[in-house]
Amino acid sequence: MTDNDTLRERIAGELSAARDRTTDLTTAVDEADLVRQHSPLMSPLVWDLAHVANQEELWLLREVGGLTPIHPEIDPLYDAFEHPRSKRPTLPLLAPGEARGYGHEVRGRVMDLLEKTRFGGTRLTDGGFAFGMIAQHEQQHDETMLATHQLRVGPPVLSAPPPPAAGDAVTLPPEVFVPAGPFTMGTSTEPWALDNERPAHVVDVPPFYLDTTPVTNAAYATFIADGGYDDPRWWTADGWAHRQRAGLEAPLFWRWEGEWVRVSFGVALPIIPNEPVLHVSWYEADAYARWAGRRLPSEAEWEKAARHDPVSGRSMRYPWGDFDPTPEVANLGQRHLRPALAGSYPLGAAPSGARQLIGDVWEWTSSDFLPYPGFTAWPYKEYSEVFFGPGYKVLRGGAFSVSPVACRGTFRNWDYPIRRQIFAGFRTARSASLETA
Ligand SMILES: [Fe+2]
Repeated sequence: MTDNDTLRERIAGELSAARDRTTDLTTAVDEADLVRQHSPLMSPLVWDLAHVANQEELWLLREVGGLTPIHPEIDPLYDAFEHPRSKRPTLPLLAPGEARGYGHEVRGRVMDLLEKTRFGGTRLTDGGFAFGMIAQHEQQHDETMLATHQLRVGPPVLSAPPPPAAGDAVTLPPEVFVPAGPFTMGTSTEPWALDNERPAHVVDVPPFYLDTTPVTNAAYATFIADGGYDDPRWWTADGWAHRQRAGLEAPLFWRWEGEWVRVSFGVALPIIPNEPVLHVSWYEADAYARWAGRRLPSEAEWEKAARHDPVSGRSMRYPWGDFDPTPEVANLGQRHLRPALAGSYPLGAAPSGARQLIGDVWEWTSSDFLPYPGFTAWPYKEYSEVFFGPGYKVLRGGAFSVSPVACRGTFRNWDYPIRRQIFAGFRTARSASLETA
């Protein structure tokens, strides 16, 4: 098989994996649920369904293939920048059957195009970039749709087996040490990396300690019990103002019934003490870290702990090495609908000893979403550039909700510091300069 054939096969596999997931998430509910808005934070599922098809048509059929638009009149309806999520239910959207039909038609033509495409020669086809971008885009919407499912009220419709048991977790040290020194952050070689992950650049990181695992429900419940939500000392001024305004008292989907209960995809059960905490905002994560006498890690610290191999001096694609994620190393891809217990996935550990950096829960970092030195917007400014600035905080590592194709050691996610419906948790860090310099 030629390299072109191998790439073509990989692309076909990723596109169909994304569509399978989309199909599962949109056939689990009835038509009324597909067109209903389950939260003003989210689009109706039927919008996501046609939007992924529309983006696939725009980038693959029109840009790569040079084909005539199928339904140019619907483009504005599915332009994420024209209509905020809260307004999308008022649009004359395609009905569920029409949206599915459109997606099917686009995909059929994309498979024909894929057969004919010779990769390289243009930046969009180099390494299959545009196809990789579209597979990632659909999987990112599958994650968004999973968040919509989590917000949906009604009988449970999704289920999945529990993640594997945690193994040797009880013997783990609470934190790992990452010595001082430079490392390579970002990438210039990963073919499907998005513009904000580029280019590779060297960053010198002072020594620090990082939690071995994400912060657990039990640890977070201690913060609540200790009055953490009522003590402005632990909160930034903005965070405290938001905590007051929004009446925050616990993570989203937690409720007190003589014990803490968490609602997960329509099922209410007591929190699992050793499971990573989920659905906390950046403000809550930051307040917890201060209460614990620690801080959130910077994005550079997170990536160094996740990718730097002190033996070779090189940055790896993932904490465990360069091979793509497998079920043995990380909880990704909605195979399980919850994070694995803290300390799981010993085979996915980083050289630093930290576990679960990839998968399980997105991890808030202390960093604003900013361009790397030498950044250039590609393939369009609205991918990342319009979001750069202090308004967004960076999250790293992906979660159980994220597909392996949309998750790398270099992958950067960003969101408002008040956001809680995303599958986000965190781990904490502390500087080590005085003790070890
Ligand atoms: Fe999108």
